[in-house]
Amino acid sequence: MSALFEPLTLRDVRLRNRVGISPMCMYACVDGLANDWHLVHLGSRAVGGAGLVIVEASAVEPRGRIASEDLGIWSDAHAQALAPIAAFMARHGAQPAIQVAHAGRKGSTNPPWRGDRSLTTAEGAWTTIAPSAEPFDPPGGTVDQVPAAMTEDDIRAVIAAFAAAARRADQAGFTVLEVHAAHGYLLHEFLSPLANRRDDRWGGSFDGRARLVLEVVRAVRGVWPDAKPLLVRFSAVDWLPGGWTLEDSVALARRLKAEGVDMIDASSGWVVPGEAPPFGPGWQVPLAARIRRDAAIPTAAVGAISDPAQAEAIVAEGHADLALIATASLHDPYWPFHAARALGALDRLPLPPSYDYVLRPPARNP
Ligand SMILES: Cc1cc2nc3c(=O)[nH]c(=O)nc-3n(C[C@H](O)[C@H](O)[C@H](O)COP(=O)(O)O)c2cc1C
Repeated sequence: MSALFEPLTLRDVRLRNRVGISPMCMYACVDGLANDWHLVHLGSRAVGGAGLVIVEASAVEPRGRIASEDLGIWSDAHAQALAPIAAFMARHGAQPAIQVAHAGRKGSTNPPWRGDRSLTTAEGAWTTIAPSAEPFDPPGGTVDQVPAAMTEDDIRAVIAAFAAAARRADQAGFTVLEVHAAHGYLLHEFLSPLANRRDDRWGGSFDGRARLVLEVVRAVRGVWPDAKPLLVRFSAVDWLPGGWTLEDSVALARRLKAEGVDMIDASSGWVVPGEAPPFGPGWQVPLAARIRRDAAIPTAAVGAISDPAQAEAIVAEGHADLALIATASLHDPYWPFHAARALGALDRLPLPPSYDYVLRPPARNP
């Protein structure tokens, strides 16, 4: 009996198993609109058997994109482009999820294959926003544009943009929403003392730095249906002295739970250069386990999860409720199906009939 292939119910939404596809920017849009690339990429992973497929970081406003090729959800046209993709994923048994995001000071860059460097004016650079007017990289570094320190009005507008994005995600047919507060993007920049130098009510103490993410979640929960689960991904540690700690994460997870968040997606790092994370198989799993235990909230584990037995142990041993895979799912969109076969759980995971009658043993391929 595989724990990984047990269903998971969050609010009124049932995931057929505990394998999720982690959000992955594709840098494949024009004007932030989803297209046939997204349908094939996300659709394949739904057909491949995942219980949950999370659409990449989707910008809540144009300047919240990392690169101009990023996906957006800042207008109804963006939601309409996403709707058939969400419907396709749902039709093939995966719960369609989307991550709503704002890149903050790490916006206005080229896609990573062009060196992830800041856009030049000739390339259409825009002014980024952040808690404080400090760039991610020092001058001459890869992402060195100086952001504008946000005013109170800017902060209110960003909160409203997250809520509007959540409403559109609901209308587009997504059943699960994830707020992106990790990886050094805007909400993480507010959380981390390494990026937030404010001395007003949006900075300083833990309460001040956590205020924006909590207000965003409150606004989002206010429009996101009660029946649908809400996830928050945050960086559970900054991996640098003076940065965000795992104790901070437990405290934040408790607050988020009280605001109606159903699961913490525990990632880490990327808020300033120079960190030294302990990379290795399942390296972030202990973060998800600690938050799950001490804040009593379901968690998703992510990071170098590639082996079915490893994913099975993460769930079976109670480290997390969901195993998210990213890179492994680029190697193999059918990772969940192959994992089910390896774990003797194929009976739990029907593929679409067009494939199933051929692939399910005993092979009936004429
Ligand atoms: C191509 C690519 C794009 C990514 N884009 C996002 C993103 O949009 N949002 C996010 O939270 N994480 C993003 N990530 C991080 C992954 O979701 C995941 O946390 C990370 O890759 C670790 O998992 P892995 O070891 O299975 O790859 C991205 C990773 C990759 C490889």
